[in-house]
Amino acid sequence: MAKIARISHLQEFKDSNRKFSCLTSYDQQTASIFDEAGINVLLVGDSAAENALGLDSVLAITVDEIIPLGRAVAGAAKSSLVVVDMPFGSYETSPEDALANAMKIMKQTGAAAVKLEGGRRSANQISRIVEAGIPVMGHIGFTPQSVHALGGFKIQGRGEDADEILAEALAVQEAGAFAVVLELVPAELAARITKQLRIPTIGIGAGNETDGQILVWTDFAGLSGGKPRRFVREYMSLRDDLLEAAKRYAADVESQNFPNQDESFSA
Ligand code: KIV
Repeated sequence: MAKIARISHLQEFKDSNRKFSCLTSYDQQTASIFDEAGINVLLVGDSAAENALGLDSVLAITVDEIIPLGRAVAGAAKSSLVVVDMPFGSYETSPEDALANAMKIMKQTGAAAVKLEGGRRSANQISRIVEAGIPVMGHIGFTPQSVHALGGFKIQGRGEDADEILAEALAVQEAGAFAVVLELVPAELAARITKQLRIPTIGIGAGNETDGQILVWTDFAGLSGGKPRRFVREYMSLRDDLLEAAKRYAADVESQNFPNQDESFSA
């Protein structure tokens, strides 16, 4: 069994110029498969709202809803570093609220770290949680919990806004985060931030020069349906395969082809 990943291992990847992989996971089965595959980080993202819980938006998921998912993933992962997202409303109000919720997540899931969104606006929250001994992953660029304020799903940091995103990344680093997600930023800007930061960057829609890459697992596996977004690569067609298998099963049941004699017990 590979040794358990620590935040220091991600720093070692950056320092030795090697790339690392991250996927979201919301359940025990995918966590155990991705862990066995050698995925370095499993993020129990608030994207679970839309991809596991059937909620309309990431804004809707609560701390109490993400905790059982985090516990399932942390329980199944033997080597991957497990990080749990802090839901919208669980950290913005004050550094003390942020710490209380981060502690609750850490105690009740067994994860190794939490992630929260925002640069300068979240710096006090990040420092407070880190001071208490909990590793924090930052998240800047397009931050899905601020989708309404940002005016929709948009690339951040184009043109003159680039320096602003760099300043946000530096604020996250100075606050003590061990890594930072860069979501939907131009590849050149992500490369520039990656060079300037001491801590590892993790890209999603941010080109291939960040230290790590992350994808939402239902997108990566082709389970989400519809046309994938430009930055997504589908590594399989799980939705089509499951659909086909379920149709064959239904037909076999209807025709009494399932179960057959070998699949049944005799008296
Ligand atoms: O919740 C999530 O899936 C995320 C990734 C997009 C980084 O935050």
